[in-house]
Amino acid sequence: MNPGNRTPVAPELVPHGGPRGGRADSHVRLDLSTNVNPFGAAPAVLAQARAADLSAYPDPTSFEARHTAACAWKRPVEEIAFGAGVSELLPALFSAMLADNDAVVVAAPAYGEYARAAHLLGARCVHVRRRSHVPRTSRLMAALRRFRPKLMVVIAPGNPLGDGWSVEELALLASTAEAQRCLLVIDQSYDAFLDQPIGDPALPGHPAVVHLRSLTKDFALAGVRAAFATAPAPLITAMERWRAPWAASAPAQAAAIASFSPDAQAHCLASTRALRRGVTTFARALREQGVGVRDTAVHWLLCRMSNAQAHRLEQQAGIRVRTLDDHLMMGLVRVVVPLPHHCAEVVAAIADLHRPARTPPFTPEPI
Ligand SMILES: Cc1ncc(COP(=O)(O)O)c(C=O)c1O
Repeated sequence: MNPGNRTPVAPELVPHGGPRGGRADSHVRLDLSTNVNPFGAAPAVLAQARAADLSAYPDPTSFEARHTAACAWKRPVEEIAFGAGVSELLPALFSAMLADNDAVVVAAPAYGEYARAAHLLGARCVHVRRRSHVPRTSRLMAALRRFRPKLMVVIAPGNPLGDGWSVEELALLASTAEAQRCLLVIDQSYDAFLDQPIGDPALPGHPAVVHLRSLTKDFALAGVRAAFATAPAPLITAMERWRAPWAASAPAQAAAIASFSPDAQAHCLASTRALRRGVTTFARALREQGVGVRDTAVHWLLCRMSNAQAHRLEQQAGIRVRTLDDHLMMGLVRVVVPLPHHCAEVVAAIADLHRPARTPPFTPEPI
């Protein structure tokens, strides 16, 4: 791309859930605004991350982490990149692929960093929202033909909708994208939370697909920052040219390698299964209290709540949820399932918001 044509004003930062830092956060006791596995990281992974050498430069190629993933996923190591989260890999991918005014089609609503990365590069981002009466693949394929994008992004399962995609749907989009000389980006960061995960990568070896796979959600490594990209080898090489040196820290590389160990895999499986059971119980309890809830295919719920109510929940009960007005989903919030011992407390606090305000009993003034 021509750097002279970059957007002169960078787009606004995308709102993210999670801690705000400092005193702004001191009242938050329970943060349910992020999608990180609330059971936390596997002890085996934590131990390796903590044992990493902090004084030496990490391997700038993250070879061991990529090699471990390559063996597990039966793909050549040249097809795999490792970085400091999807949020670090994605600007490199977009920089390698996009020129000014290129279009990017995003299945919406979607994690906001995709649109921001496109805008930062002077590309156009077209959001294609779901319509209940039209199959979503038809709408995306129509957008492929109409806007001729260089990239199309699908989050599978989606954030914030938490809607699952079948391999058949993804394969159909990939072949249509390929025919249109477009690359399909499949973000599988929440795959492990599905009842039946597709597995990594969804379409192995497909020439027109980039898979992104964060380890910050299911392995609860949000503070470490770790993610893989799987794509045709020439694209991985092109992406690498846009990345900062040593972007993936030594603890991140160590944690990623350990995440493939049997102990870590067992922890991840057991905790994600428990979350799926927990979210069913959580939804039932909220409904019993008359709270409007929309189920998802993953470990969070969409709950009827105004921004004012979400603010009250945080100020009065110390519980933070993710408002969704930036996704044009006013009146809904995203709530990750709490751990079982917090469930009753959270249900009571949310139900309280929906009770009519208590007015003091009328006592006539003495005459
Ligand atoms: C769909 C999706 N992809 C990627 C990310 C960011 O992942 P990472 O922590 O690896 O940067 C998020 C974070 O919320 C997300 O929702």
